[in-house]
Amino acid sequence: MAHRLLGGLSPAAFLRRHWQKRPRFVRDALPNCGEWLQRDTLFELSTREDVESRIITHTHGHWRVEHGPFTRDKLRRKPDRGWTLLVQGIEQFLPEASKLLQRFSFIPHARLDDLMASYAATGGGVGPHFDSYDVFLLQGTGLRRWRISAQKDLTLVDSAPLRILKHFQPQREWDVEQGDLLYLPPHYAHEGVALTPCMTLSVGFRAPRKQELAENFLDFIQDNLRIEGMVADPELPLQQHPAKLPSFLVDKFARVLKQIRWNDADIQRFAGRYLTEPKPQVIFRRPRRPMTPGAFIRCVMKRGVRLALPTRMLFAGNRVFINGECHTIERNHRGTLVRLADTREAPAFIPGAATAQLLHAWHCAGYIHV
Ligand code: SIN
Ligand code: CO
Repeated sequence: MAHRLLGGLSPAAFLRRHWQKRPRFVRDALPNCGEWLQRDTLFELSTREDVESRIITHTHGHWRVEHGPFTRDKLRRKPDRGWTLLVQGIEQFLPEASKLLQRFSFIPHARLDDLMASYAATGGGVGPHFDSYDVFLLQGTGLRRWRISAQKDLTLVDSAPLRILKHFQPQREWDVEQGDLLYLPPHYAHEGVALTPCMTLSVGFRAPRKQELAENFLDFIQDNLRIEGMVADPELPLQQHPAKLPSFLVDKFARVLKQIRWNDADIQRFAGRYLTEPKPQVIFRRPRRPMTPGAFIRCVMKRGVRLALPTRMLFAGNRVFINGECHTIERNHRGTLVRLADTREAPAFIPGAATAQLLHAWHCAGYIHV
């Protein structure tokens, strides 16, 4: 199906031609984009402890980065030129933002990082840079000028407190207005400057760095490791040098360490947990008075369930992953839980005992709502 969001391309054609390969610009991709996001809503979010926010100011060739939370007073005192406020993860707080992400469901949830929103005063921006993410830049209210470049020289200015390209050589540019969309693959040089006070929404898709992936996997293996017994040496031969590392001891270590093994099922369990792990600042609001299991299940049977805004849920085979946890699911409710993971909601249904217990535990943890 052709997609207005993708400028008439089907999702499959977009993935084939553009994803991780080349930019795509679409005029009027999402009419009225971000009309639900007022500047004051963004300001208010940036005053919160559990929200990651930054203000970037550019004056007389100098860049400054400040990290939130900010006071209302500070935001009110900002001048009317040359700065921008960036707020990460707004889908965790605003239902409309979460709904906007659903439009990008042609990309696996496993690749999604977050929805960032920025407010820029005229002339504001974060400077010429590149991101390590795939990003869909959607223009909200106001006007912005995007300039992009396929340049290979990605050298950064050393002295700047943020990543600024030393030699930005723009090749294409667009003056964008509400509803326009620009997709950029990772490491594509770009710069957005506000032509009027404006809002921009960035849907970011992140692939982990290989080093980070490997380190996290080793943590997972360590947490799940059980090797019993002690290294013993009842056959210890007399050594000539007490300081020499005995090779027989190294051999014994090697035999123990070879017991550290993993299989594809372990990798799948790790991947699901790792990719649904909440970011450090995420807080789940537990219900002050959780429903009893019976009352909760009656609600599920009447109204169905939906995921809380900060919840991340994936599935694979007979497993579901939710906020860093892994659970095996009942076969007859697989379809419902898959639907919950895919669309963030599931209609009323009658859960079996194990599924009822699982859902009730998620309700108590603040992962789902009825
Ligand atoms: C912004 O919204 O100002 C920054 C978006 C980006 O360039 O990645
Ligand atoms: Co960027």
